[in-house]
Amino acid sequence: MSNKFKVLKVSREIGNNTKAVGPSMTSREAKEFAKVDAELVEVADSNKNKLFAALKDADILLYGGVPITRTMMEAAPKCIAIMTQTVGYDAIDIQAATDNNIFVMNNPAFEWCVEEVSNHAMTLLLACAKKVKILDKLVSQCHWADAKKALPPMGSIYGQTLGIIGCGAIGRMTARKAKAFGLNVIGYDPYMPERYLAKENGITLKRLGDVLKADYVSLHPDLNETSLHMIDDKAFAHMKPTAYFINTSRGKVVDEMALVKALEEKRIAGAGLDVFEKEPADQDNPLLKMDNVIVLPHSAFYSDASSVLAPITIGKQAGKVLSGRWPDNVVNKSVKPKVKLIKER
Ligand SMILES: NC(=O)c1ccc[n+]([C@@H]2O[C@H](COP(=O)([O-])OP(=O)(O)OC[C@H]3O[C@@H](n4cnc5c(N)ncnc54)[C@H](O)[C@@H]3O)[C@@H](O)[C@H]2O)c1
Repeated sequence: MSNKFKVLKVSREIGNNTKAVGPSMTSREAKEFAKVDAELVEVADSNKNKLFAALKDADILLYGGVPITRTMMEAAPKCIAIMTQTVGYDAIDIQAATDNNIFVMNNPAFEWCVEEVSNHAMTLLLACAKKVKILDKLVSQCHWADAKKALPPMGSIYGQTLGIIGCGAIGRMTARKAKAFGLNVIGYDPYMPERYLAKENGITLKRLGDVLKADYVSLHPDLNETSLHMIDDKAFAHMKPTAYFINTSRGKVVDEMALVKALEEKRIAGAGLDVFEKEPADQDNPLLKMDNVIVLPHSAFYSDASSVLAPITIGKQAGKVLSGRWPDNVVNKSVKPKVKLIKER
């Protein structure tokens, strides 16, 4: 018997979603959706014929790493919801969703990967501070003496300062972990409603200019109009030539050309990047060629544990939607009066 509801996941490549040990993320999601009488179909956005045929029947669109556009929404007349497991929803055209009476559900609680991303930020911070990339390269090439010579300058980590930009769930968890390494933590976040949480997590809130003067600067805002390219030439001008810059948030928070310039002109010591303005990063992106820049494939969210938890989280929310209730987090709340929930159709 076929399932009552259709969920369409639009991915860059079928089956290429981060594979866990055992079943892939998509097959785990499919299992959760099946529990709420929904069939998950995954389609690659490059296969336009298949994609547009599947859109006709979709009750829910599930974010699979590629932008969900107005054209897709207009081709999905039955669709009431777009769901993403991520906190960021910058890849979804929210205005188009509202115009098409579709609500967008994100996942700000993000309990499934706060630990992973904060670990990733600390990994990049420690690897940059300890020059892991360049030393590994020199030792692998048997340049032992050169590796020793490359050690200074090297910070102590303990007693140094970490500046956190965006003190939400991941920023705060990173702060707690950084404290265990003896770092002093300062932060910038003019928009956080619960400012007391900064102090509770060991963060002293400061102005952006002061936070940028830290020994390590780690980015954790969501991507929005205020954070788009907020780290530009002017921001890098505040940073110390010995400082390392870490980004596990979103590539577009940084003006990448300004970052390249700051690195080329040695206005900062190096960077640890999990995210890029364009993903996958282009082969000729200068950041991929720099020994003092660690580059990772937008993988901060991943652990085997998070890949098990993520589908369960989205499955629970889908259960609510498909039984006619609102999920926990609706981004475009103004659309609510216009959406016909499943039970009303
Ligand atoms: N690399 C990955 O795999 C990965 C995985 C999960 C989340 N992320 C990204 O990590 C970031 C943080 O996620 P989170 O769960 O902590 O989000 P969150 O919503 O809990 O926190 C974001 C914080 O940023 C603040 N902020 C917004 N605009 C700002 C600005 N202009 N300046 C300073 N602060 C600003 C907000 O007030 C909020 O406190 C997001 O960009 C998210 O997309 C990346």
